Amino acid sequence: MTDPLGYMESVTQDYGDIFTLQFLFVPTVFVSGPEGMQQLFTNTKEITAPGEPNKFVAPLVGSNGLLLLDGARHKYRRKLLTPAFHGDRIRAYGQRICAIADAVMQQQPVGSTFTAISVLDDICLRIILEVVFGLREGDVRYDGFRQVVPALLKLSLTPAMDFCFSFPILQQNWGPWKQFCQLIAQFDDLIYGEIRDRRHKLDSTRSDVLSDLIFAQDEQGEAMPDEEIRDLVPSLIFAGQEASATAIAWALYWVHHLPAVKKTLLQELNQLGDTPDPMSIVQLPYLSAVCNESLRIYPTQTVTFPRVVQTSIEMMGYELTPGTVVRGNIYLLHQQEDLYPNPKQFKPERFLERQYSNYEFLPFGGGARRCPGDVLALFELKLVLATLLSHYQLELVDRRPERPQRRGVTFSPASGLKMKLLGLNHHAW
Ligand code: HEM
Repeated sequence: MTDPLGYMESVTQDYGDIFTLQFLFVPTVFVSGPEGMQQLFTNTKEITAPGEPNKFVAPLVGSNGLLLLDGARHKYRRKLLTPAFHGDRIRAYGQRICAIADAVMQQQPVGSTFTAISVLDDICLRIILEVVFGLREGDVRYDGFRQVVPALLKLSLTPAMDFCFSFPILQQNWGPWKQFCQLIAQFDDLIYGEIRDRRHKLDSTRSDVLSDLIFAQDEQGEAMPDEEIRDLVPSLIFAGQEASATAIAWALYWVHHLPAVKKTLLQELNQLGDTPDPMSIVQLPYLSAVCNESLRIYPTQTVTFPRVVQTSIEMMGYELTPGTVVRGNIYLLHQQEDLYPNPKQFKPERFLERQYSNYEFLPFGGGARRCPGDVLALFELKLVLATLLSHYQLELVDRRPERPQRRGVTFSPASGLKMKLLGLNHHAW
């Protein structure tokens, strides 16, 4: 609990790329070699990705949330979400993502110090509210969501709530659980209110996730019930905000911790001209390499969600029997010396010199539960980083190395990343 990453590293030194640990009370096989990762994600008959092991998050994300579904229903729901998170839809958000990053950052007075993770949480929440609900500042329920979501996340991250999630017997009408239920009730009022209004107005021109779900029909031509729509939304909002803010915080840290990286990145950004198209920003090679290296060295999620063996299978010389719980260890894979020489060193060039396969570099997991927000997340990471770097002069308050610390399901900078706003770059795009 105090140093999970250091512990994982010491275990892999003694036992190699596959080992079993008692993890959250469950004996779990951790796999970290590319060969094991490939098996984990491609042998879908032998190893499945059930929702049952994730049921402890049901109170937060809903029992029909993606994380709790499996099989055909899971596949169908993911398919419904795909258009909203890919292609033209995402491209259309480019200008808005940069504008949101600017609008939030401009609230910081020049000369002030601030905790980057809080600012990034706000930026990423505003982005995900636009993508998922199509809501903007001034819309009826926008402020409601901006109050309830951070309050729910903050409460969910407390040790008391950790206990409540792990031991359902504690989920009674008292203290933190009572407060949690009140917040969930407010969240439900907002979502159901929004669903009701959308169904009433029948505006088919809207292109956000909520409208996609409301107007979707299954093979029998049936619309999805409101309760199922409601349950699909929270995991997108919570996962979308927390993981994205954490990823951007790490990238900001590395760029400001290593002057040579910042210099090279600024040189690349400065060549963009006065009004760059977001697509030309996200295609920049060094920016992409910096973001990949940042996701490699400290992946926001260090392990995949659990997979379960259905029929015996041999993996890396061991027989895994039915019922065995297996997780891909993303952190250890990204630390492998043969794939990433000097793995503790932040070196974006490795992504310019070599192409890594989906089983060697997997910040978004893989297979049936691969992150459905991966394209949006990378787009957001690059655009927010580029905007902050090009428009603002920032520095780290503390020059000492940052440690990763657990924050919900992600590992983010332990200090929250204290930064100082030194000035504005008026000449930048
Ligand atoms: C840099 C940001 C992000 C990272 C690094 C990340 C990473 C991950 C990882 C590692 C998984 C588990 C995959 C597995 O078990 O194989 C996952 C699942 C998931 N992510 Fe992300 N994620 C990010 C952003 C997002 C965003 C923006 C959204 C929503 C728009 C999102 C929604 C989800 C959901 C709903 C799941 C569960 C999928 C399922 O159960 O089928 N994530 N993510």
